[in-house]
Amino acid sequence: MTANSSVSTASTALPQDLEQGRMPAHVAVIMDGNGRWAKRRGLPRIMGHRKGVDTLKKLLRCCRDWGVGALTAYAFSTENWGRPTHEVDFLMTLFERVLRQEIKEMMAEDVRIQFVGNLAALPDTLQREIDRAVTMTQANQGIRFSVATNYGGRQEILQACRAIATQVQQGHLQPEDIDESLFSRHLYTANISDPDLLIRTSGEMRISNFLLWQLAYSEFYITDTLWPDFDTDEFHQAMKAFQKRDRRFGKVNDSEET
Ligand code: FPP
Repeated sequence: MTANSSVSTASTALPQDLEQGRMPAHVAVIMDGNGRWAKRRGLPRIMGHRKGVDTLKKLLRCCRDWGVGALTAYAFSTENWGRPTHEVDFLMTLFERVLRQEIKEMMAEDVRIQFVGNLAALPDTLQREIDRAVTMTQANQGIRFSVATNYGGRQEILQACRAIATQVQQGHLQPEDIDESLFSRHLYTANISDPDLLIRTSGEMRISNFLLWQLAYSEFYITDTLWPDFDTDEFHQAMKAFQKRDRRFGKVNDSEET
């Protein structure tokens, strides 16, 4: 299947072994392993990215069907500019094309799309397509879909520090006014809650400069499955694992108190 082909829009019911009330409100995903998936099949790396788009579309629908309120996907990091030029160019064109092709379905499915990252450095044509998609979907009330593009967690924190420092310098803010809530409001993700769950495919045990601030208390689910092969069954496994986790946020459970 390719980025041009359609994916079934039929909704899937929540599996019986999952509790609706314990679904994560926000899932973040590091979509790793596209290149290896292609290489194993003797295909160019870009074919892995094309297949990866289908996986993302299916996951977005599954999240919507199962009551996950927000999905954030790491599409392109600030470090990804270091890849071969033809791969970077392919990815920029792919993002643009996918946005153009999917906008109708996003509207029909009530998806609100937004982009997080330093968007000013992206090609103008992509920036225009992003503006169009964000504007068109901004009143939608369904799942919030955030695409991290030219995103780097350290760079995001630095730009927040600079913005806050400027306000202090201009006398609009006192240093003691700076707390976690104010800091969060200066991040690209100001309007979304921190992820409850981070999924990373292809078995790498790294955070790779993704949502460094926001993942402070997220649960992690790491699977050896390569991103293009990450399907609904695997997402179901991830949800089952998440629902078994005991989230203590640094505290102890009532039952453990002596
Ligand atoms: C990582 O695999 C994947 C990427 C850097 C690109 C992911 C992008 C998409 C799936 C397209 C998303 C499109 C939109 C519009 C949101 P890798 O290349 O690092 O794989 P490897 O580790 O096997 O080399």
